[in-house]
Amino acid sequence: MHLLSLSASAALLVSAVTAAPHGIKLLSWDEAHEKASALVSQMSVEQKVGLATGQGWEKTLCVGNTFESTNPDFPSLCLQDGPLGVRWADNVTAGVSGITAAASWDKDLLYKRGAYLGVEFRTKGVNMALGPCVDIMRSPRGGRGWEGFGEDPYLQGVSGSLTVEGIQDQGVVAVPKHYILNNQETNRKNSSSNADHRTLHEIYVWPYARMIEAGLGGVMCSYNQLDGTWACENEYILNTVLKEQLGFRGLIMTDWGAQMSNEPSANAGLDMTMPGDIVMGDGFSWWGANLTKAVEDGKVPEERVTDMAQRIAAAYYKMGQDKGFPSIGLNGFHREEAPEVLIPGIEEHTKIVRDIGAAAVIVLQNNDDILPLSGDLKKIALVGSDAGPIPQGINGCEDQSCAEGHLAMGWGSGTTDFPYLITPADGISSRAGDDIEVSTTFDDWDLETAKSVASDADVAIVFAMADSGEEYIDVDGNVGDRKNMSLWHNGDNLIEAVAEANDNVIVVINAVGAVLMPWIDHESIKAVVWPGLPGQESGNSLADVLFGDVNPSGRLPFTIAKNENDYGATIDPNFNVEYTEKLEVGYKHFDAHDIEPLFAFGHGLSYSTFEYNKLKVKCKDKKGTASASVEVSNTGEKDGAEVAQAYLEFPKDVGAPPKQLRGFEKVFLKAGKKTKVNFEFTPIDLSYFDEDSESWVLAKGEFTVHVGASSRDIRQSATFTL
Ligand SMILES: *[C@@H]1O[C@H](CO)[C@@H](O)[C@H](O)[C@H]1NC(C)=O
Ligand SMILES: *[C@@H]1O[C@H](CO)[C@@H](O)[C@H](O)[C@H]1NC(C)=O
Ligand SMILES: *[C@@H]1O[C@H](CO)[C@@H](O)[C@H](O)[C@H]1NC(C)=O
Ligand SMILES: *[C@@H]1O[C@H](CO)[C@@H](O)[C@H](O)[C@H]1NC(C)=O
Repeated sequence: MHLLSLSASAALLVSAVTAAPHGIKLLSWDEAHEKASALVSQMSVEQKVGLATGQGWEKTLCVGNTFESTNPDFPSLCLQDGPLGVRWADNVTAGVSGITAAASWDKDLLYKRGAYLGVEFRTKGVNMALGPCVDIMRSPRGGRGWEGFGEDPYLQGVSGSLTVEGIQDQGVVAVPKHYILNNQETNRKNSSSNADHRTLHEIYVWPYARMIEAGLGGVMCSYNQLDGTWACENEYILNTVLKEQLGFRGLIMTDWGAQMSNEPSANAGLDMTMPGDIVMGDGFSWWGANLTKAVEDGKVPEERVTDMAQRIAAAYYKMGQDKGFPSIGLNGFHREEAPEVLIPGIEEHTKIVRDIGAAAVIVLQNNDDILPLSGDLKKIALVGSDAGPIPQGINGCEDQSCAEGHLAMGWGSGTTDFPYLITPADGISSRAGDDIEVSTTFDDWDLETAKSVASDADVAIVFAMADSGEEYIDVDGNVGDRKNMSLWHNGDNLIEAVAEANDNVIVVINAVGAVLMPWIDHESIKAVVWPGLPGQESGNSLADVLFGDVNPSGRLPFTIAKNENDYGATIDPNFNVEYTEKLEVGYKHFDAHDIEPLFAFGHGLSYSTFEYNKLKVKCKDKKGTASASVEVSNTGEKDGAEVAQAYLEFPKDVGAPPKQLRGFEKVFLKAGKKTKVNFEFTPIDLSYFDEDSESWVLAKGEFTVHVGASSRDIRQSATFTL
């Protein structure tokens, strides 16, 4: 039994999408394939192969370009990184990272972020945007976890789908990555990730399934192997799962240099090789002339190459790229002078970045209501290099690998150049105005100066960071993945020193993922604030929350543990990376083993308080739809938003983790007001992946719906039976 129908929640999302602002009309897959078939049927094998083959690394201004075809005519397509903005380009926006977007739990802002990204890629002439990243944060130390939407597949699925819809509504093909089980950087090109099929589908394929329902155009396969077969030539995950089970009608491209063979990858379902060369920059290719020859030799059926070209052309037609698509306005590899291509309305993008940055600030702790900062403060101390400028300059290191000064994004190919960077010191000073004195020290090692600056302030705010990125850059012995979970640059000692000198300490952490907090019980440390990786507007977003202009509503998209070995998975240096934790990823491991986290998945405080009442659940029909509603009231004195979260406890005999996120809604409520929040559960939400029948099966029996403010702050529970 396959449950491939558009889920109710996806249908809602689709209908909420208005006509694209640029008047681009998106085609259905049927219409797009019809046009593509008419084109491709006139092509020779060589022309079809050209669409499927990249021209080579650094041969063009984009990180990847296909070959163009003449008679029939089809343009060379431009592919460009990455998940948080347009890489290697001037006059673009360097916004919040995936992990920070997810921390907003705000569907409206997630869509708006996708849409502004789409506008920027399109204006710069990019046909296919290499994002979003939906790699599950399996271990907190995974180097690229910050590019994606956290540890939970449902949150990844919603965030990924809204991002894809936003990008594609602007006529740009979204290419989420890295498919699949690419959850660490260590040995990524030389290891095999091994998971059972149930785990593969329920945790890792889940976000792709939801994005395909949302009309997804492309998928990027990853560097690693699965059960000893390279991801980009793995028949099961490409042909069987994506194309047959999920009915994916777009194209599958390789990660850069992830192709390892000619015929096996073609026959397993790969559609495009990127950037085209065997070894990046060598000018040779597994495909190109080699693929044409394989067709002539009967090793790859011509229909397979026709299918590749048709899928690529269909994605192009679906997004309306055959009409008035802009020419390339990127700066290329060596920062060529590009014609200045300005993005109309970019000020609005800046505003979205600031808004989502503020909506994503997570207040983890706020003892004595030290926040928001009150109007009668006379003096604030800002301590730590993470509050200040980047010494090497905002774009001073290869792919943002400085890891000094303020941290507003991780490093690697998933970065963009900053047009400017508002540091916390900038943002706080400008909001503090003339009436509040702000003193600073950005030296993490001079603890005496830190103490003296902190000692005579009303409030001391101490900043610390932890960074990670992609494995081609080694930063202080961190080869992509973090080598430990501690704060960098003497952060723990700096925090302790400031806490000795001042009774009112606020700790602010800019980090790629969970860090250890050995100082958490210090009584001077009143608040802990987690802005994540907010991009160019960082300091403004933070100031909005610290001063109470925005009531915080960010929630953790991952678990912060007390100890590193509390987590269910870590970085594995062996060739075989066994996913032995199976379904128990993130909070599911903590729940299953009764381990108390320091801060739970879904946690985050507000300056107001919220109550939950009147949970009602009903099974709408036995074929597998159910719904729940709960009344959420703002019982505090400040207007603000609450993120109501719905976790499902499955019938006992299906072997599911204790609780799984299956719904969330962020609702804004004026002080004293209440509203009804509804959750709709689709058949997929209520199913598990059955390995024997290799399909999703509706779970039968009693379900419990747990609704609350985090995975460990359940306020109401009720049952229904299927
Ligand atoms: C565009 O970017 C260039 C290079 O960073 C910069 O010199 C120029 O001022 C920018 N233009 C605008 C209008 O921001
Ligand atoms: C992969 O790792 C194995 C074992 O660590 C090593 O023998 C082999 O040379 C590596 N291969 C590549 C391509 O790096
Ligand atoms: C064809 O593939 C082989 C590897 O099988 C490679 O050595 C060769 O350079 C490729 N030919 C071209 C023209 O790229
Ligand atoms: C953890 O790694 C960071 C970054 O490399 C380093 O600064 C720090 O000293 C390390 N901490 C520990 C406790 O090893």
